[in-house]
Amino acid sequence: MPSDNYLEKTRARVAVIAITLLLLTLNIKCMDTTKSLGCKLEGLHPHLIVTYKEIAISADKITVPYNERITMRCREVGKYKLIGDPLLHCRNGTWNGKIPYCVPTTAISNYTENVPPTIVFGLPAGSAAVEPTGALAVFPGSILHLECLFARKLGNPEWTWTPTFRRYLTGWAIAARERDWKYRLSIYYAKHQDSGVYTCSTPKGLSNSIQVHVIDVQCSVLAVPEPPLISHIEGSRIGDSAIFECPMGYRLEGASGITCQYNGKWSANVPHCEEIECPAIDITDNPLLSLIEHNNTYGGKVVFTCMWGHKLSGSQSIKCEGNGRWNGSMPTCLEITCPVPETPRSGRIIEQTRYSNKKRYRAQIYKVGALVRFACLPGHQLIGEASIICTENGTWSHRPPVCKVRCPYPGDPPHGRIAPLKFWYKPGDNIQVTCSPGYVTPLEPVKKPSCRENGIWSAPPPPCRSYKEV
Ligand SMILES: *[C@@H]1O[C@H](CO)[C@@H](O)[C@H](O)[C@H]1NC(C)=O
Ligand SMILES: *[C@@H]1O[C@H](CO)[C@@H](O)[C@H](O)[C@H]1NC(C)=O
Ligand SMILES: *[C@@H]1O[C@H](CO)[C@@H](O)[C@H](O)[C@H]1NC(C)=O
Ligand SMILES: *[C@@H]1O[C@H](CO)[C@@H](O)[C@H](O)[C@H]1NC(C)=O
Ligand SMILES: *[C@@H]1O[C@H](CO)[C@@H](O)[C@H](O)[C@H]1NC(C)=O
Repeated sequence: MPSDNYLEKTRARVAVIAITLLLLTLNIKCMDTTKSLGCKLEGLHPHLIVTYKEIAISADKITVPYNERITMRCREVGKYKLIGDPLLHCRNGTWNGKIPYCVPTTAISNYTENVPPTIVFGLPAGSAAVEPTGALAVFPGSILHLECLFARKLGNPEWTWTPTFRRYLTGWAIAARERDWKYRLSIYYAKHQDSGVYTCSTPKGLSNSIQVHVIDVQCSVLAVPEPPLISHIEGSRIGDSAIFECPMGYRLEGASGITCQYNGKWSANVPHCEEIECPAIDITDNPLLSLIEHNNTYGGKVVFTCMWGHKLSGSQSIKCEGNGRWNGSMPTCLEITCPVPETPRSGRIIEQTRYSNKKRYRAQIYKVGALVRFACLPGHQLIGEASIICTENGTWSHRPPVCKVRCPYPGDPPHGRIAPLKFWYKPGDNIQVTCSPGYVTPLEPVKKPSCRENGIWSAPPPPCRSYKEV
């Protein structure tokens, strides 16, 4: 079948291509292993700074690929003296020379006679930057002071230099606080021809050097950044710096200061300002809670409220602070309950709507809206509210009523009326009977019925009798 034949051919072709590719890969790999023996760098002197491909590396254990070069210097130029060659070349697994190291100088070793002198530099005008070799790259026209630090009482050090362009002013500093330990060499308005090595030697013959490159290196001119980024840009010449900040409510992302380096590149990119935001508040796990306000930018706040019948436990509002964190935690909602109401003496609860929370515990609570109704025993009057309700304040709408001993209205006798007419009579109250025309109360007894302390009348109301019968 023609289609099968075609399929076989295609399969064969694919297989050939795959094998070729595999061989090619293997071949590349083999060539690679014979050539690429990197060089290890480990156990470096802690003050050494290694620069590889224009990047300063501070890791203490690295492997540099075959045929690459690195540059080394001591951390504080002039305060440590580099012993050895600052440039190393990786040759098939080994370096072409010994790894240099740093030795301390006078400023580190308390101005003793047996260490090389420290060289520090000052720039009353102009700018400069340190190169990976430890050389000082100075912008043309700068004023450079090289200070050789040495105890004056131990004698005078000496400055020598390699440039032949001019002679330089040397001598002890003038200012009182400097003149006993700073032996200075000044280069005024540096020119290209001032490039060279400047060496300070002590009377004992110990020396330290600093290499000066007068070089017109400039970095790209920084554009005035867009608000809200605030910048203070010194310039764009070698050694110039720019500092950045963000207004309140923003966080600086990136370096707060950058300098124009020896290689004409800024030490870092221009940073930017990020609006400070606190993490959004998620209440999905908290169905009783709701948000009245939710503003999670800096200075904003979140305001919480609880479902009806519940109250907040914790802060009602939290604020987003400058560190991007809330000033407190989310509150929780607690069920509002009223205390068990007091049952009045000589009274009872006749109706209540309670709510059972968990049947297992038989915990009975009065939630918001729970109603309780009271009644008094016979012979008692209810004073106050007969029903009370649990309010959102967790308190009852009214105090529970009280039950007072009272005599009830005894009913009018036939052909007569009781006075005063009331529903309830206090103990000690008397009543008298007024008879209808043609009727009278008996002359005896004369005592009026009075309400006794037990709520029972001392006597029934006297009857009214017809004249005719009396
Ligand atoms: C590098 O050294 C390895 C072993 O030391 C050796 O086999 C290899 O041929 C060398 N490669 C080169 C390019 O010199
Ligand atoms: C430094 O040297 C001075 C005398 O030259 C001595 O008084 C002082 O104690 C020394 N300080 C230290 C930290 O060694
Ligand atoms: C959030 O709060 C901030 C700071 O108080 C305020 O400037 C901003 O306008 C608020 N945002 C909203 C959407 O209300
Ligand atoms: C957090 O901020 C809110 C709103 O300003 C304030 O009411 C609350 O007391 C603050 N909480 C804390 C713990 O400071
Ligand atoms: C809750 O208490 C406040 C003051 O304590 C009061 O103003 C409010 O009326 C009360 N609300 C209820 C429903 O009792």
